[in-house]
Amino acid sequence: MKRIRVIVASCFLITALGTAGCGANSATGDQTSQTPVTDIKVVSEQGMELYKANCIACHGVDLEGKVGPDLRKVGERKTKSQIAGQIRDGGGKMPAYNASLSKEDIETLAGWLASLK
Ligand code: HEC
Repeated sequence: MKRIRVIVASCFLITALGTAGCGANSATGDQTSQTPVTDIKVVSEQGMELYKANCIACHGVDLEGKVGPDLRKVGERKTKSQIAGQIRDGGGKMPAYNASLSKEDIETLAGWLASLK
């Protein structure tokens, strides 16, 4: 009888500690189970769609460059924020896109282009 009580007590203790541990685990588990916005495949697909709709005329079907420069390895030359700035404000002979593209679209495009190295 005494032994059973000890076992019950220690089980309770383990459960109590375990719950605390589980609480922490499930918190981090939730974070990793969310789809990150920076998911590279999603960003690439959306980026390509936006590129096709807005940028092909000057930068070419395969980003090889026409009126505007070759963008195939633009991520080697420029950071994501520099690229976002170029899209937002334009510059040289490039038009500004701050009025026609949303902030999110510009971020997506810039993130995708910056990943091309
Ligand atoms: C009307 C033609 C035109 C369009 C449309 C255009 N660009 Fe450009 N783009 C240019 C030109 C010209 C430059 C070079 C600017 C300069 O001389 O400073 C440039 C430069 C850039 C650069 C910097 C490249 C580097 O190597 O420094 C990026 C990035 C860029 N464009 C992205 C885009 C994206 C993304 C779009 C679509 C949203 C777009 N461009 C649409 C003409 C265009």
